[in-house]
Amino acid sequence: MKLLVLGGTKNLGRHVVEAALASGHEVTLFNRGRTNPELFPSVRRLVGERAAPGVLATGEWDGVIDMSGFLVRAVSLSASVLRDRCGFYTFMSSIAVYASKTTAGMTEYADLLPWPEGAPEDEFTMDLYGPSKVRCESLLTATFGDRTAAVRSGFVVGPYNPDFGNWGWALAHGLPMECAARPDQPIQYIDARDLAAFLLHLTISRSSGPYNAVGPTHTMTDLADTWRSAVPTRPPVNWHPTEDHFHLPHDGTNDGTFQLTNTRALTAGLHLRPPIETARDYITWVHNGNVPPAPPH
Ligand SMILES: NC(=O)c1ccc[n+]([C@@H]2O[C@H](COP(=O)([O-])OP(=O)(O)OC[C@H]3O[C@@H](n4cnc5c(N)ncnc54)[C@H](OP(=O)(O)O)[C@@H]3O)[C@@H](O)[C@H]2O)c1
Repeated sequence: MKLLVLGGTKNLGRHVVEAALASGHEVTLFNRGRTNPELFPSVRRLVGERAAPGVLATGEWDGVIDMSGFLVRAVSLSASVLRDRCGFYTFMSSIAVYASKTTAGMTEYADLLPWPEGAPEDEFTMDLYGPSKVRCESLLTATFGDRTAAVRSGFVVGPYNPDFGNWGWALAHGLPMECAARPDQPIQYIDARDLAAFLLHLTISRSSGPYNAVGPTHTMTDLADTWRSAVPTRPPVNWHPTEDHFHLPHDGTNDGTFQLTNTRALTAGLHLRPPIETARDYITWVHNGNVPPAPPH
């Protein structure tokens, strides 16, 4: 299959490209050539800015996987160029799209965030992250109809990725695992490799619509115990560290975000490896000389 990946060279996107190449697909990358430009030297690369995606008018693809869509204006521009140039368009969205942060058990059809009146469509701010993803999903549906999917994830864990990297680093070095979230905090995450495989699967199978691509809900305590069991020394958890890697409020006002229903994604073919496997692989990755990237914010 001919695949175009928008982005593809950073944390999650490189897993998508690795998975696509391993399955024998013909991949084209579109990015500015700034982030890890040495990656995938044999892959065709279209160099350009999301804000000026004219170079995309030089090709046709069976599927597009959009890993770098944050800004409404930029996604709108590339969607116009690609509308008649691709068979299917898979958009990497976020669990930040939901209007409620407290309701447990939300499906993909729960209420989404509104667009703040007068907000800029071409500037990135953290406040606009969720509303922008909602707008992008909706404009892609308007453009592609049932030829598009939106994949909503939160914490993405595994080699190259920052989330839970502090735990992997601590376990690899026999240090206490730091967790500034409360011990009974509900938490969901997904292994980056499972997410990459799912993005690819949806694109190939042309499975449209929104998907909560998240794992089952654990408490932080249960998850920490699983991760600790990945090493013989089982280091303790420090629940009161000076540095907060998770940024989760202690008053429960974000608990619903990590109790999403993932049935639709599982039915569509999402495979989730057990957390112990993710923990072991992250530790091995650190033992091999890799350093977890810093979280984006
Ligand atoms: N926990 C998570 O990581 C998480 C959770 C939920 C959703 N997501 C979503 O997953 C996606 C990010 O994953 P990732 O960082 O791993 O993606 P990625 O595809 O690996 O990295 C971002 C890519 O976009 C390219 N890029 C950045 N700005 C660009 C621009 N202005 N024009 C053209 N290309 C540009 C970068 O290359 P150049 O710098 O060379 O241009 C890079 O290849 C985002 O859509 C994010 O919202 C992530």
